[in-house]
Amino acid sequence: MSLIKTVNFKPLGDDRGSLVALEANKSVPFEIKRVYYIFATKQGVSRGFHAHKNLKQLAVCVTGSCRFVLDNGKQREEITLDSSTTGLIIEDLTWREMHDFSPDCVLMVLANQYYDENDYIRDYQEFLNVVKPT
Ligand code: TYD
Repeated sequence: MSLIKTVNFKPLGDDRGSLVALEANKSVPFEIKRVYYIFATKQGVSRGFHAHKNLKQLAVCVTGSCRFVLDNGKQREEITLDSSTTGLIIEDLTWREMHDFSPDCVLMVLANQYYDENDYIRDYQEFLNVVKPT
């Protein structure tokens, strides 16, 4: 099964332009407790390089583009996000890396938990130990 799960949002357009509405437990498959966005990423910078023990997220590249790598310890897959109407679902215990941010990239992330540094796994070997217990 693919690690890459996306949802498409229906743009509500009229002659003024477009609008996308995201609602918890509808287009976003969880309760939303937190929204953050990453922007003005410097050229050549990659981000992420962590997994979460208990956190579901949905990432939307509202403007510009960036490339996501997702890894569950068995498979590693990637997707370029470049559409404001596509969301990438990132489940718990998924290692994520973000690369190739365009200068105009605004990456918005919705999360089902508040920020908690203790929920992070920042060491890849530790991540592998958690997902592949001996
Ligand atoms: P970090 O998780 O390192 O970003 P990345 O997605 O690239 O891995 O977050 C950068 C900093 O921002 C770090 O000091 C933690 C802080 N932060 C918050 O305070 N709240 C948040 O919701 C997030 C995502 C990060």
